Amino acid sequence: MKKIAIKGTGSFSPERVVPNSYFEKIIDTSDEWITTRTGIKERRMIEKGQAMSDLATLASASALQMAGISADELDLIIIGTSTADMLSPSAACMVQYRLGAKKAVAFDVNAACPGFIYGLAVAQKFMQDGSYSKALVVGGEIVSNRLDYKDRSTCVLFGDGAGAVVLEHSNGKDNGEILAMDIESDGDLWHLIHVPGGGSRIPPSHEMLNEGLQYLKMNGNEVFKHAVRTLVDSARKIMAQQGITSEEIDWFIPHQANIRIMDVVAEKLGIPTEKVIVTVHKYGNTSAATIPVAFDEAVRSGQIRKGDLVLVSSFGAGLTWGAALFRY
Ligand code: COA
Repeated sequence: MKKIAIKGTGSFSPERVVPNSYFEKIIDTSDEWITTRTGIKERRMIEKGQAMSDLATLASASALQMAGISADELDLIIIGTSTADMLSPSAACMVQYRLGAKKAVAFDVNAACPGFIYGLAVAQKFMQDGSYSKALVVGGEIVSNRLDYKDRSTCVLFGDGAGAVVLEHSNGKDNGEILAMDIESDGDLWHLIHVPGGGSRIPPSHEMLNEGLQYLKMNGNEVFKHAVRTLVDSARKIMAQQGITSEEIDWFIPHQANIRIMDVVAEKLGIPTEKVIVTVHKYGNTSAATIPVAFDEAVRSGQIRKGDLVLVSSFGAGLTWGAALFRY
């Protein structure tokens, strides 16, 4: 089986900064409540007219440039997203078109927040037997236009963004390697986070819009409990698989949904806070984009260096969850 490594990273976050003070003007909330309960101070949101593939294309171009490969060399494009530009075709096909990646097969993976980790796992499988050799995996999301700005328990939590990695085969020694992956789902818990309207069960209609069914609904307290359990279990599973202890982890990037979840998970895993990469204060929860954006920023700032052992884990609607362990 061929080894796979991350050769380039890229990310793009929209320029429009929406601070907590914006929500103080439109709903009954405060900067103090949002900061202490979530760790979020501000988030980025698109301008009207921008779509997911706009962000994903910019993130991808930057990852390709770092990897030193051109778009027409790609043979696989996978985008983890549940907010593609259109219901059909996939965001991956839009990005393929925008990049001019003519040789690639392109498709989306809809797994909510762990969409990037799911995409990485699928790409790894496709590449391990040598069928595919150069892959682009993106996690990107525009959550801002799925939010009910009258529901204070959800609208303050999310933002928009996209992050990307370019994968190539590796000799595994000095070129990095994806060591272990875990992806899991529990459809019994689908109702904890969902967007009821706009799909085939409740198609778009005036009635659907009037009832606000196009917006994200979430049971925050229940999600919180499952988030901690799944993030910890998944991370422990792959570390045990590789015989790696938490002391050996150089960097931990948990899904950036809530600083309290991240703190509890890091503590349970025995990973000190200095090793946890945090971006939730500036971007909020950008769903599938949180991990690749945080990873790219940590690489570009020099925090994560070649050879570092990195653990990432995520959870989200489905429920879905997963983790990845790799040497960068
Ligand atoms: N501003 C002020 N008050 C708010 C508020 C806001 N933005 N949102 C909720 N509240 C209120 C509630 O109405 C409730 O008031 P009540 O006691 O009068 O009924 C009170 O704050 C406590 O609500 P609760 O839901 O218990 O707060 P919490 O500490 O659990 O925090 C979340 C709420 C949503 C931040 C937290 O549950 C969470 O982060 N859950 C996980 C969500 C998540 O990660 N989702 C993404 C999955 S990918």
